Amino acid sequence: MQLQQVLYTQGFGTRRVCAGLVEQGHVAIGGRTCDDPGEDVRPDGLVLTVQGRDWPVHERAYVMLHKPAGHECSAKPSAWPSVYTLLPAPLRQRPVRGGQDGVQCVGRLDQDTTGLLLLSDDGAFLHRMASPRKHVPKVYEVVTRHPVDEAALQRLRDGVVLEDDPKPVRAAACEATGSHALRLTLTEGKYHQVKRMVAAVGNRVEALHRSRIGGLSLPADLAPGQWRWLGPSELDLLKPAA
Ligand code: URA
Repeated sequence: MQLQQVLYTQGFGTRRVCAGLVEQGHVAIGGRTCDDPGEDVRPDGLVLTVQGRDWPVHERAYVMLHKPAGHECSAKPSAWPSVYTLLPAPLRQRPVRGGQDGVQCVGRLDQDTTGLLLLSDDGAFLHRMASPRKHVPKVYEVVTRHPVDEAALQRLRDGVVLEDDPKPVRAAACEATGSHALRLTLTEGKYHQVKRMVAAVGNRVEALHRSRIGGLSLPADLAPGQWRWLGPSELDLLKPAA
Protein backbone atom coordinates (compact mmCIF):
# COMPACT_ATOMS: atom_id res chain seq x y z
CA MET A 1 0.00 0.00 0.00
CA GLN A 2 1.24 3.52 -0.72
CA LEU A 3 2.59 5.32 2.34
CA GLN A 4 0.24 8.27 1.84
CA GLN A 5 -2.72 5.85 1.69
CA VAL A 6 -1.65 4.20 4.97
CA LEU A 7 -1.46 7.63 6.61
CA TYR A 8 -4.90 8.44 5.22
CA THR A 9 -6.46 5.25 6.62
CA GLN A 10 -4.98 6.05 10.05
CA GLY A 11 -6.66 9.47 10.18
CA PHE A 12 -3.78 11.83 9.46
CA GLY A 13 -5.90 13.94 7.09
CA THR A 14 -6.90 14.04 3.46
CA ARG A 15 -4.73 12.22 0.94
CA ARG A 16 -3.25 15.57 -0.06
CA VAL A 17 -2.41 16.44 3.57
CA CYS A 18 -0.86 12.97 4.04
CA ALA A 19 1.28 13.38 0.91
CA GLY A 20 2.37 16.77 2.25
CA LEU A 21 3.38 15.27 5.61
CA VAL A 22 5.72 12.88 3.79
CA GLU A 23 7.09 15.48 1.36
CA GLN A 24 7.87 17.84 4.24
CA GLY A 25 9.87 15.15 6.05
CA HIS A 26 7.41 14.59 8.91
CA VAL A 27 7.12 10.82 8.47
CA ALA A 28 9.73 8.20 9.35
CA ILE A 29 9.79 4.41 9.45
CA GLY A 30 12.32 2.68 11.70
CA GLY A 31 14.30 5.92 12.10
CA ARG A 32 14.51 6.56 8.33
CA THR A 33 12.77 9.72 7.15
CA CYS A 34 10.58 8.97 4.14
CA ASP A 35 10.34 11.39 1.24
CA ASP A 36 8.15 9.54 -1.26
CA PRO A 37 4.40 9.54 -0.51
CA GLY A 38 4.01 6.74 -3.06
CA GLU A 39 6.51 4.43 -1.33
CA ASP A 40 5.15 0.91 -1.15
CA VAL A 41 4.85 -0.26 2.48
CA ARG A 42 3.29 -3.26 4.21
CA PRO A 43 0.77 -1.97 6.78
CA ASP A 44 0.85 -5.19 8.91
CA GLY A 45 2.77 -4.47 12.10
CA LEU A 46 4.08 -1.18 10.69
CA VAL A 47 4.99 1.57 13.15
CA LEU A 48 5.08 5.02 11.59
CA THR A 49 6.70 8.00 13.26
CA VAL A 50 4.63 11.05 12.41
CA GLN A 51 5.88 14.44 13.55
CA GLY A 52 8.08 12.68 16.08
CA ARG A 53 5.34 10.46 17.55
CA ASP A 54 5.15 6.72 17.02
CA TRP A 55 1.92 5.49 15.52
CA PRO A 56 1.36 1.71 15.28
CA VAL A 57 -0.78 1.06 12.22
CA HIS A 58 -4.11 -0.64 13.01
CA GLU A 59 -6.56 -1.64 10.31
CA ARG A 60 -9.37 -1.22 12.85
CA ALA A 61 -9.12 0.82 16.03
CA TYR A 62 -10.09 -0.69 19.39
CA VAL A 63 -9.12 1.44 22.35
CA MET A 64 -9.91 1.80 26.01
CA LEU A 65 -10.14 5.10 27.82
CA HIS A 66 -10.17 5.77 31.55
CA LYS A 67 -13.05 8.22 31.45
CA PRO A 68 -12.63 11.02 33.97
CA ALA A 69 -15.60 12.80 35.53
CA GLY A 70 -16.78 15.98 33.83
CA HIS A 71 -16.79 14.64 30.27
CA GLU A 72 -19.70 13.72 28.00
CA CYS A 73 -19.72 10.66 25.74
CA SER A 74 -21.00 12.72 22.84
CA ALA A 75 -19.28 14.30 19.87
CA LYS A 76 -21.58 17.29 20.33
CA PRO A 77 -21.60 17.76 24.11
CA SER A 78 -24.12 20.10 25.70
CA ALA A 79 -22.37 21.24 28.89
CA TRP A 80 -19.08 19.40 29.44
CA PRO A 81 -16.09 18.66 27.22
CA SER A 82 -16.40 15.60 25.03
CA VAL A 83 -14.46 12.41 25.83
CA TYR A 84 -13.27 12.59 22.21
CA THR A 85 -11.10 15.59 23.14
CA LEU A 86 -9.02 13.13 25.21
CA LEU A 87 -8.04 11.18 22.09
CA PRO A 88 -5.43 12.13 19.48
CA ALA A 89 -6.74 13.67 16.25
CA PRO A 90 -6.04 10.60 14.05
CA LEU A 91 -8.39 8.46 16.18
CA ARG A 92 -11.09 11.11 15.84
CA GLN A 93 -10.56 11.54 12.11
CA ARG A 94 -9.84 8.09 10.73
CA PRO A 95 -12.09 7.47 7.73
CA VAL A 96 -14.85 4.91 8.20
CA ARG A 97 -16.51 3.35 5.20
CA GLY A 98 -20.28 3.76 5.35
CA GLY A 99 -20.22 5.37 8.80
CA GLN A 100 -19.35 8.44 10.79
CA ASP A 101 -15.60 9.10 10.73
CA GLY A 102 -13.45 8.35 13.75
CA VAL A 103 -13.89 5.99 16.67
CA GLN A 104 -17.23 5.89 18.49
CA CYS A 105 -17.99 5.09 22.14
CA VAL A 106 -19.34 1.65 23.00
CA GLY A 107 -22.46 2.81 24.83
CA ARG A 108 -22.35 5.88 27.01
CA LEU A 109 -21.35 6.77 30.52
CA ASP A 110 -22.88 9.77 32.26
CA GLN A 111 -20.88 12.96 32.56
CA ASP A 112 -20.11 12.26 36.22
CA THR A 113 -19.37 8.52 35.80
CA THR A 114 -15.71 7.45 35.67
CA GLY A 115 -13.98 4.30 34.49
CA LEU A 116 -13.65 1.92 31.59
CA LEU A 117 -14.93 3.19 28.25
CA LEU A 118 -14.30 1.38 24.97
CA LEU A 119 -14.16 3.08 21.60
CA SER A 120 -13.84 1.64 18.11
CA ASP A 121 -14.37 2.32 14.41
CA ASP A 122 -15.54 -1.26 13.80
CA GLY A 123 -19.30 -1.09 13.29
CA ALA A 124 -19.84 -4.83 13.92
CA PHE A 125 -17.90 -4.62 17.20
CA LEU A 126 -19.84 -1.53 18.32
CA HIS A 127 -23.10 -3.30 17.56
CA ARG A 128 -22.10 -6.54 19.27
CA MET A 129 -20.87 -4.82 22.43
CA ALA A 130 -23.98 -2.65 22.72
CA SER A 131 -26.49 -5.42 22.04
CA PRO A 132 -28.40 -6.48 25.18
CA ARG A 133 -28.83 -9.92 23.56
CA LYS A 134 -25.08 -10.55 23.76
CA HIS A 135 -25.14 -10.13 27.54
CA VAL A 136 -21.63 -8.72 27.93
CA PRO A 137 -21.55 -8.02 31.69
CA LYS A 138 -20.52 -4.58 32.89
CA VAL A 139 -19.37 -4.10 36.47
CA TYR A 140 -20.02 -0.84 38.34
CA GLU A 141 -18.61 0.31 41.66
CA VAL A 142 -21.22 2.46 43.38
CA VAL A 143 -20.89 4.81 46.35
CA THR A 144 -24.28 5.42 47.94
CA ARG A 145 -25.68 8.22 50.06
CA HIS A 146 -27.42 5.93 52.55
CA PRO A 147 -26.14 2.68 54.08
CA VAL A 148 -26.43 -0.45 51.95
CA ASP A 149 -28.50 -3.29 53.40
CA GLU A 150 -29.01 -6.89 52.34
CA ALA A 151 -32.73 -6.41 51.63
CA ALA A 152 -31.93 -3.73 49.03
CA LEU A 153 -29.21 -5.90 47.48
CA GLN A 154 -31.69 -8.79 47.18
CA ARG A 155 -34.26 -6.51 45.52
CA LEU A 156 -31.63 -5.44 42.99
CA ARG A 157 -30.87 -9.11 42.26
CA ASP A 158 -34.59 -10.01 42.04
CA GLY A 159 -35.38 -7.08 39.75
CA VAL A 160 -36.83 -3.60 40.10
CA VAL A 161 -39.29 -1.81 37.83
CA LEU A 162 -38.13 1.47 36.29
CA GLU A 163 -40.65 4.08 35.23
CA ASP A 164 -40.24 3.63 31.45
CA ASP A 165 -40.76 -0.14 31.25
CA PRO A 166 -43.00 -2.52 33.22
CA LYS A 167 -40.46 -5.35 32.74
CA PRO A 168 -38.22 -5.56 35.81
CA VAL A 169 -34.49 -5.05 35.37
CA ARG A 170 -32.22 -7.13 37.54
CA ALA A 171 -28.59 -7.06 38.50
CA ALA A 172 -26.72 -10.14 37.29
CA ALA A 173 -24.74 -9.81 40.53
CA CYS A 174 -24.79 -7.41 43.43
CA GLU A 175 -22.74 -7.29 46.62
CA ALA A 176 -21.91 -4.77 49.32
CA THR A 177 -18.30 -3.57 49.21
CA GLY A 178 -18.58 -1.19 52.16
CA SER A 179 -21.18 0.37 54.45
CA HIS A 180 -22.05 2.88 51.67
CA ALA A 181 -20.72 1.01 48.65
CA LEU A 182 -21.81 -1.79 46.36
CA ARG A 183 -20.68 -3.59 43.23
CA LEU A 184 -23.36 -4.14 40.61
CA THR A 185 -23.10 -6.24 37.45
CA LEU A 186 -25.47 -5.45 34.60
CA THR A 187 -25.94 -7.14 31.25
CA GLU A 188 -28.09 -4.37 29.75
CA GLY A 189 -27.41 -0.69 29.30
CA LYS A 190 -30.55 1.34 29.80
CA TYR A 191 -30.37 5.10 30.26
CA HIS A 192 -29.03 5.96 33.75
CA GLN A 193 -29.67 2.33 34.67
CA VAL A 194 -27.49 2.08 37.78
CA LYS A 195 -28.70 5.39 39.19
CA ARG A 196 -32.33 4.51 38.55
CA MET A 197 -32.03 0.98 39.98
CA VAL A 198 -30.35 2.28 43.14
CA ALA A 199 -33.02 4.98 43.44
CA ALA A 200 -35.72 2.32 43.03
CA VAL A 201 -34.52 0.66 46.26
CA GLY A 202 -34.60 3.94 48.18
CA ASN A 203 -30.93 4.89 47.98
CA ARG A 204 -28.97 7.38 45.86
CA VAL A 205 -25.78 7.11 43.80
CA GLU A 206 -23.11 9.53 45.03
CA ALA A 207 -20.32 8.23 42.78
CA LEU A 208 -20.24 5.72 39.93
CA HIS A 209 -17.26 3.99 38.37
CA ARG A 210 -17.19 1.23 35.73
CA SER A 211 -14.43 -1.19 36.60
CA ARG A 212 -14.95 -4.02 34.10
CA ILE A 213 -16.57 -4.97 30.78
CA GLY A 214 -16.75 -8.71 30.07
CA GLY A 215 -13.44 -10.11 31.30
CA LEU A 216 -11.58 -6.83 30.75
CA SER A 217 -10.81 -4.77 33.86
CA LEU A 218 -9.69 -1.17 33.82
CA PRO A 219 -5.91 -1.44 34.25
CA ALA A 220 -4.59 0.12 37.47
CA ASP A 221 -1.86 1.93 35.51
CA LEU A 222 -4.27 3.71 33.17
CA ALA A 223 -4.80 7.11 34.81
CA PRO A 224 -8.03 9.11 34.39
CA GLY A 225 -8.00 10.74 30.95
CA GLN A 226 -5.51 8.25 29.48
CA TRP A 227 -6.23 5.87 26.61
CA ARG A 228 -4.50 2.92 25.00
CA TRP A 229 -4.89 0.39 22.20
CA LEU A 230 -6.52 -2.94 22.99
CA GLY A 231 -4.44 -5.97 22.05
CA PRO A 232 -5.83 -9.27 20.68
CA SER A 233 -5.81 -10.94 24.12
CA GLU A 234 -7.78 -8.03 25.59
CA LEU A 235 -10.29 -8.22 22.72
CA ASP A 236 -10.73 -11.91 23.48
CA LEU A 237 -11.74 -10.97 27.03
CA LEU A 238 -14.67 -9.00 25.58
CA LYS A 239 -16.19 -11.94 23.72
CA PRO A 240 -19.47 -13.07 25.24
CA ALA A 241 -19.42 -16.44 26.98
CA ALA A 242 -20.51 -19.16 24.51
N1 URA B 1 -25.72 3.63 34.79
C1 URA B 1 -25.84 4.94 35.11
O1 URA B 1 -26.77 5.33 35.80
N2 URA B 1 -24.93 5.80 34.63
C2 URA B 1 -23.84 5.42 33.89
O2 URA B 1 -23.02 6.26 33.51
C3 URA B 1 -23.73 4.05 33.57
C4 URA B 1 -24.67 3.18 34.03
